[in-house]
Amino acid sequence: MCGIIGYTGGEEAVPIIIDGLKRLEYRGYDSAGIACQCDAKVEVRRCKGKISELDSQLSDFSGSSSTAIGHTRWATHGKPSEENAHPHRSDGIVIVHNGIIENYIELKQQLEGEGYVFTSETDTEVICHLIKKHSEDKSLTEALMEAIRSVRGAYAIAAMSEKEPGRIVAARKDSPLVAGIGDGECFVASDIPAFLAHTRKVVFMEDGEMAVLSPEGIEFLSLEGKPIQKETVTIDWNAAMAEKGGYRHFMLKEIFEQPRSVADTITGRLLSHRTGEINLEEFGLEDQQLRTLEKVTIVACGTSWHAGLFGKYIIERFARIPVEVDIASEFRYRGPILQDNSLFVSITQSGETADTLAAQRLAQAQGTKTLSICNVVGSTASREADAVFFTRSGPEIGVASTKAFTAQIVALYLFSVALGRAKGALDEDGARDLINDLLTVADLMEQTLLSDPEIKGIAKELHKNKAFLFLGRSLQFPIALEGALKLKEISYIHAEGYAAGEMKHGPIALIDDGYPVVVCAPKDDLYEKVVSNIQEIRSRGGTIILITNESNKAHAAGISDYVITVPDCPTHIMPIITAVPMQLLSYHIGVFLGCDVDQPRNLAKSVTVE
Ligand code: M6R
Repeated sequence: MCGIIGYTGGEEAVPIIIDGLKRLEYRGYDSAGIACQCDAKVEVRRCKGKISELDSQLSDFSGSSSTAIGHTRWATHGKPSEENAHPHRSDGIVIVHNGIIENYIELKQQLEGEGYVFTSETDTEVICHLIKKHSEDKSLTEALMEAIRSVRGAYAIAAMSEKEPGRIVAARKDSPLVAGIGDGECFVASDIPAFLAHTRKVVFMEDGEMAVLSPEGIEFLSLEGKPIQKETVTIDWNAAMAEKGGYRHFMLKEIFEQPRSVADTITGRLLSHRTGEINLEEFGLEDQQLRTLEKVTIVACGTSWHAGLFGKYIIERFARIPVEVDIASEFRYRGPILQDNSLFVSITQSGETADTLAAQRLAQAQGTKTLSICNVVGSTASREADAVFFTRSGPEIGVASTKAFTAQIVALYLFSVALGRAKGALDEDGARDLINDLLTVADLMEQTLLSDPEIKGIAKELHKNKAFLFLGRSLQFPIALEGALKLKEISYIHAEGYAAGEMKHGPIALIDDGYPVVVCAPKDDLYEKVVSNIQEIRSRGGTIILITNESNKAHAAGISDYVITVPDCPTHIMPIITAVPMQLLSYHIGVFLGCDVDQPRNLAKSVTVE
C-alpha cells in the first residue's frame, strides 16, 4: 500500500524522487505527489493518476531542490483525487504517510475546534496539523515525536519543514520503512528498489523508531528521543534486477525468470546432493525441533496462501504429520488453537502483509515457534520470525505474483523432505530421490516456457470470454486456485478455482455452450477421475483447455478443445511446472484485453493495512 521516498543530498532531488516513485508504483498507483525544498520554501505538486502524470505536470517546474519527499497512493480514506493525494501540508510542514490512523476522526474534530482547516478526506492530514501545532516551539523531530504520541494505528511517515532546510524526519509503526546511505546523500523509502540505483547500503527501521536525515548522514532515535545504534546492511540485489530487461512487462519477465529463481531457492540448501540431506540451518531449525514436531500451521494471504495449500499436501505426503492451512485474516480472529510441539509457518513474498504479520505475532504470543518463508530480505516478517527461509527470487515488481509463488512451493518442498527425514517418514534413498527430482525443475521450466507462443495463440482465441472455471485435484488443486486468481487479477475476467471433485456439487451449473474450463490434469493416479469431470463438462457444451504432460498428449487431444503440454515429470514436482502455463495464459489474456497487467486496477503489491 502506498509508496514513500525521501531524498536529501547534493543532487537534484526531483528526478531521484520521480524515479524512486516509479519503482514503488507497484505499491499503489491512484494518485501521486512530491514536495521539494526550494530556497526557504517547500513546493508541493500532486495529481490524480500514475507517476507519469505527475512527471508531466512537473515539466514546468524550474526550481532547484536537493531535498524532497514523494508519495504514490493506494486510496484508503477518500477517493483518488488531487486533494487527497500526498504530500499534505499545514503551513510550512509537509508530510507523506503510509498506513491508517484509526483515531483520526476524534483528532480531526479536536483540531478543527482549534481552528485547523482540513482540505482532504484523508486520515493523514491530522498528522500534518498535529506536527504543525507542536512545531511552534519545537524542532521538526520533536514535533513529529509529539504528534505520533496522539495517533493510534499504522504509519510510515516522512516529514519536512520550511524552517529546517536539508532535513527529513521519518517514523515507523506497522508500515515498512528503510533508510539508504549514499555518499553525501541519504534516502528513506517504503522499499529498497526505490533507491537501489543510488546505494545498496541500507538500514531497516523497526517499529517505534525515527530517523533524522541530512546529507551528512542519518541519526536514528527512539520515540523518546534516545539515539539508537543501527546496523547497516549491504544488499546483494542490483538495480538491473528491478528493471524490465527488454520484456514488455515485469510480469512476463518474472515468469521467464522462474528457472533461475527456483534454482536460486535450491542453491546452498542441500548438505549433499548424493544423500539429499537438507541444510536445516538454512531454515533456522534444528533436527531435534523437527523430530518432536506434531503439527504444522501454515498461514498466508492470496497467492502465498495457495502455496501454503500445496505445502499441506506435500508435507502430509512426505512427513506424515498433520498440516493446517489458513487465510491470515481468518486465522487471526478465530481464536486459533496452537498446540504444543507445533510450528507456525507464515508465507509471504513481501514480508509486510498486515494480516500475515498479525497472525505470526499471535502465534509468537502463544509461545509457538515461527518460521517465515519470505522473499524480501529485511522485511518485518523475516525479522520478527524465530526462523526464516528466504526464497531468493529477487525483487518481484509485477503486482500479480509469479516467480515468488513457484519459489515458495520449492521452499515448502524442501521443508517437507527435511521434515520427512527428521520424522522418519522418509528414508535416505527416498529423500535423495525426491531431491534429485527437484533438481530437474529449472530445466523442466525452461522447456515449458517454450510453449509460450502456443499459449498466446490459445489466449487470443479465448480472451473474449466473460468467465472461466479452473479445476485441479490433489497437488494440482492449489494450482487451479492460483490460475483463477491470476486471471481475475490481471484481466478482470471472473474466474473460479475449484477442486475437480467438487464440480458436481455446484459449479457444474455454470457450464453452458462454450464455457471455458481450464483443467490441470497430468497423467497421475487421479487422472481418470478428472477425465470423468471433463466428460461431464463436454456433454454440457463446455470448452476444455487441458494442461497435461507431454506423453499424455494424444489422449488429452481426444477429450479437449485445447491441449497445453508440459514435460513429463513426477507428480510431486508437476505443480511447479503446471503453474507456468497458468501464468502465461492469464498474462496473454490480460494483454489481449488491453489491461495493465503489471499494475491491475484496485490492487497493491503489499497489503500493509487490514
Ligand atoms: O506479500 P505476500 O505474499 O504476503 O502477499 C500476499 C497477497 O497479497 C498476494 O499474494 C496477492 O494475492 C497477489 N496480488 C497475488 O498475485
